[in-house]
Amino acid sequence: MKYYAPKGLYDITPEEVDLWQLVEEKVREEMDRYRYREIRTPLMEKTEVFARGVGEETEVVSKQMYTFEDKGGRSITLRPEGTASVVRAYLEHKMYGREELSKLYYLGPMFRYETPQKGRSRQFHQYGAEAIGSSDPALDAELIELSISILEALKVEEVGVKLNSIGCSEDREEYVDQLRSFLEPKRAKLCSDCQKRLEANPLRILDCKEESCSRLIAEAPRITDYLCSECEEHFEGVRNYLDRVDLDYELNPRLVRGLDYYARTVFEVFSADLGAQDALLGGGRYDGLIELLGGDPIPAAGFAAGIERLILLLQERDGLSTDGKLDLYLATLDQETKEKGFELLRRLRKSGINAELDYLDKSLQGQLGYADRFGADYTAILGPRELKEGKITIRDMESGEQQLLELGDLEGSLAEILEKDGQ
Ligand code: HAM
Repeated sequence: MKYYAPKGLYDITPEEVDLWQLVEEKVREEMDRYRYREIRTPLMEKTEVFARGVGEETEVVSKQMYTFEDKGGRSITLRPEGTASVVRAYLEHKMYGREELSKLYYLGPMFRYETPQKGRSRQFHQYGAEAIGSSDPALDAELIELSISILEALKVEEVGVKLNSIGCSEDREEYVDQLRSFLEPKRAKLCSDCQKRLEANPLRILDCKEESCSRLIAEAPRITDYLCSECEEHFEGVRNYLDRVDLDYELNPRLVRGLDYYARTVFEVFSADLGAQDALLGGGRYDGLIELLGGDPIPAAGFAAGIERLILLLQERDGLSTDGKLDLYLATLDQETKEKGFELLRRLRKSGINAELDYLDKSLQGQLGYADRFGADYTAILGPRELKEGKITIRDMESGEQQLLELGDLEGSLAEILEKDGQ
């Protein structure tokens, strides 16, 4: 009998994990720099948190949630996204009582029951930032800029930013009426999903990928023409801050995003290299969500990025080594030198040097073959004679140069050599 991971769920193997660690490291560095602090919420929440927070009518809630009853008869859902959970935690821990603005970030798995394809899986990973407590347009701009800054730190620069404002709920109400009256007479030309959306959530029609729908939408009224003066001013503010830092964006009045909590700013960063699932990250302002989940009306904004999609881009790029680094491969010749080698290895590793020896009882030639395969910077052979003399010869695998070092302070001399190499 053979076992496979459930459909749409994937292992991250050691061959790929270096890139994951690199992404995590850069995310943490940048989040730190922008003063976002990490929050870790449970992988599951009471179903209502998402049903209310994300919205019953959204695809995520109505079709994609992993919901089950626990042994106590409670309805529990594996988190399909991070924002609602973070807001739940923000309220539960009364963070608003300690600080006026909470800047939080997270990194971890999310679960959506979707049809797997390139860039889309059922367990996927996000990093995200949420800033709760301010409606300042500079904060929207900071979040967009932060999202780009993380990509830049990873040298992912060929991306586009789509920006829109979907106004406040009153603006949207008026706009949705207009949109409905525009689309109603053309109902028959919409795809079957959009025909249903026309009643439940006409905004969703705006980002339908079906050609017949997008053709109609191109002529539909634009949401940005229905913004009230405060929302218009806010949107102008966001654009102004982005212009100040020369961040390029493309205004896209059709961008509405798939989750119900958004108000005013929405944005997405995409990469043409990703194919159909081209959104690397998305986010926006969600001023109504905190109240919806039982708090005061506190404004907030955030974004989240899909790590798998980012990894796809990083994998396509040259020059990023995904092999573990190995400073020294130590070959030994018999039991006595192996024992000494084992001792040396601990000392080397303790002083921060990546070192390896043979655990497979290989011949000397076999060991050197391994050193080659692992891409060791240096190799050394510890034979009975070297052991007796308390010295060892290390060989620079690139230049072929050899140096004789004392076994007594191998870690010290090697560290010096490696440091010089690194300069
Ligand atoms: P979202 O657009 O649903 O937003 O997801 C954000 C990103 O997660 C997407 O752009 C994509 O890269 C990735 N993603 C989503 N679903 C999948 C999937 N099935 N497989 C692989 N990657 C996926 C949110 O989740 C919001 N919570 C973002 C936010 C934070 N808004 C405000 N704060």
